[in-house]
Amino acid sequence: MMIHILPEFDSPISPENADVILVVGASRGIGLAFVEALLKQPDLLKPSAIGKSLVILAACRQPHGVEALLTLQRDYPNRLALLTLDVTEANAFVALSQQLKVLTPVLHAVIYTVGLLHEPATENQKALKPEKALSQLRLDDVMRSFVVNAWAPILLAQAISPFIPRQQAFNFSSLSARVGSIGDNQLGGWYSYRAAKAAQNQFLKTWSIELARTHPLATVLILHPGTTNTELSRPFSAHVSAEKLFSTERVAHDLLRVIEARGPESSGKFFDWANELVPW
Ligand SMILES: NC(=O)c1ccc[n+]([C@@H]2O[C@H](COP(=O)([O-])OP(=O)(O)OC[C@H]3O[C@@H](n4cnc5c(N)ncnc54)[C@H](OP(=O)(O)O)[C@@H]3O)[C@@H](O)[C@H]2O)c1
Repeated sequence: MMIHILPEFDSPISPENADVILVVGASRGIGLAFVEALLKQPDLLKPSAIGKSLVILAACRQPHGVEALLTLQRDYPNRLALLTLDVTEANAFVALSQQLKVLTPVLHAVIYTVGLLHEPATENQKALKPEKALSQLRLDDVMRSFVVNAWAPILLAQAISPFIPRQQAFNFSSLSARVGSIGDNQLGGWYSYRAAKAAQNQFLKTWSIELARTHPLATVLILHPGTTNTELSRPFSAHVSAEKLFSTERVAHDLLRVIEARGPESSGKFFDWANELVPW
């Protein structure tokens, strides 16, 4: 894993001067909107002490290729560091943990926004499409979906655990999806994605119980963003009405409001963008 820090970036970051938020999946879609919102409107989240700035560690597969992130880094040179992270790579999270050690002793919040529903074919892999029927279910597709949508968020939790403060509030939020709700499954289909998101929910719920024993000020949230206008939803959003298809900016603001409003009493729960509980 490489790490990109401009010379102005004051590293390691002093916890007295700044709260640090890690956003994973920052290249586009909802993840990029989180990074933009947190840089442009840091007061969306209350600082842990008066006068603190907010530093964002934005992780994605190819930060050098993302013009929007490079522009943000030029605009906010001492508040944004870009990390290279492919969540499917062996040892990616061990490397992440090592790089975090160089940057900061504590994290204030972590937001996991990586998700996989479909992918075009490449030289090495066939295309991934959500299943319409049982007959289309294949183990290799299930595995691809589970690695990104279920396994990576709990590996991330493992990697960042040493950076969770004991004496101050901490939030870990991960984007799941309402279609991962077993209770709310009314349409069927999308076997791999639904099951992987349900598995993510169970992993994070389980971790939240363990974490509360040692870190009573920590909060783990599982979040549904609503149908959002991104590449993930585009092939399926033609019939979604304009008012039900949210912009990424709106979703980032709504979800930051949920993160800000929810404390340890809400840990291990599944909320949507409107701050309403989603059934398991
Ligand atoms: N959009 C919706 O309507 C909707 C609805 C419900 C839930 N969600 C959930 O919300 C989250 C964000 O979705 P989105 O709509 O913003 O999706 P998106 O626009 O398709 O973005 C997906 C993000 O995941 C990253 N990613 C994919 N595979 C990766 C890997 N192996 N390593 C690192 N990063 C990887 C992509 O990075 P690259 O640029 O490198 O590909 C991209 O940043 C997902 O968890 C999704 O399941 C979305």
